[in-house]
Amino acid sequence: MNPCDIIRKKRFGGELTEAEIRAFVDGVVDGSFADYQISALLMAICINGMTDRETLALTLAMAKSGDTLDLSDIPGVKADKHSTGGVGDTTSLVLVPLVACCGLKMAKMSGRGLGFTGGTLDKMESIPGMKVEMDIESFKRQVTEVGCAIIGQTAELAPADKTLYALRDVTSTVDCMPLVVSSILSKKIAAGCDVVVLDTKAGSGAIMDTMEKSRKLAEMMVRIGNLSGKRFSALLTDMDQPLGNYIGNALEVEEAIDILAGRAGGDLKEVALTLGAHILRNAGAAPSVEAGIEMLDQKIASGEGLKKFAEMIAAQGGDPRVCEDTGLLPKAKSLIDIPADRDGYISSMTTSDIGNAAKVLGAGRERKTDALDLSVGIVMKVRVGDQVKKGDPLCTLHVGEKSDRVGAYNLMKRSIHISPEKPEKKPLILAVVE
Ligand code: URA
Ligand code: CA
Repeated sequence: MNPCDIIRKKRFGGELTEAEIRAFVDGVVDGSFADYQISALLMAICINGMTDRETLALTLAMAKSGDTLDLSDIPGVKADKHSTGGVGDTTSLVLVPLVACCGLKMAKMSGRGLGFTGGTLDKMESIPGMKVEMDIESFKRQVTEVGCAIIGQTAELAPADKTLYALRDVTSTVDCMPLVVSSILSKKIAAGCDVVVLDTKAGSGAIMDTMEKSRKLAEMMVRIGNLSGKRFSALLTDMDQPLGNYIGNALEVEEAIDILAGRAGGDLKEVALTLGAHILRNAGAAPSVEAGIEMLDQKIASGEGLKKFAEMIAAQGGDPRVCEDTGLLPKAKSLIDIPADRDGYISSMTTSDIGNAAKVLGAGRERKTDALDLSVGIVMKVRVGDQVKKGDPLCTLHVGEKSDRVGAYNLMKRSIHISPEKPEKKPLILAVVE
């Protein structure tokens, strides 16, 4: 099939057939479509959109573009969770061990941070000794024996997405609904789990810039995901401020441990438990979401959740003693408080700027090859709606030798807005899509 014919058809708004979409994805993987032809088609898709039928065909073709994991020989329901990307968003480290304690198998493949959003793999690597690369047989053995594992995606999983994502990144075609849906779902489908819960973010730190688009993205992912034959559901959750109070790799592991140890609560815990409860309910392990939250909370109270986390860390070569002593995690060289410059209420935050502040401190990367400082980041001292007095600390920067402390300071100053009026309280979980 001629690439030009396919590009031309989409350029004029036509609906591509399954065969045309398969030819395109094959061409991406075998190199018979040139990068400029792929880019042209991506732009035509961005401008003219795709029908559900096209999006499903693209998703399935991408899912089949490499290896697909067969987890059927692991007994029980295999579950996975995916976030569209956030700041201070370490729900996976909280919910994976808790859900595993309830008898489900959490076989999670995670990613690295890119841009202003954090990545679970980088966070895990801040635990001394922790390995996130594993062959599939070891991964399956650990999921069977421990009940959970979090590893990096193998190179052979949905290789079409690697090429497409890299080209989208440099052609301004990232925030295109059918392309986001097929990118995320193809990897989840290839990874072989039965139940998948998606956390779609909305707000100033979300991939989609409006609430309406975020909601549409969640709905489309669930619709297309369920057409693939697996059980998908999605939450739409607030990213108009960082989810947890700690942002940065070791810092987020510390907050996850604090929650698992029952020492911390707040929005991060609420979203983590709600996502986990949807997994339990969808897998038939809890009669309702409310009952699921209760079960997970019980695993915190009993200490089983933290014990399971330690077990998973040990299985992956890490030092499980961090669960008892977070002082063993890497610590930043110095701390800098940022004070409020006036009295008032925290009215809003620009979450993407906060993520970027963590990035310039060294917690994140601009390019895939950038090195990280796992110890650096930001601890937030306020949340939207809090009253502050001039001079009160808004946050503390955890700074390393290579940190751009001036850049981070300025980004944080402009990202936290103080006004005389108390803002209206917004819900944390904005919608459930099933
Ligand atoms: N995450 C992905 O994996 N793909 C996208 O397109 C967007 C977010
Ligand atoms: Ca994530």
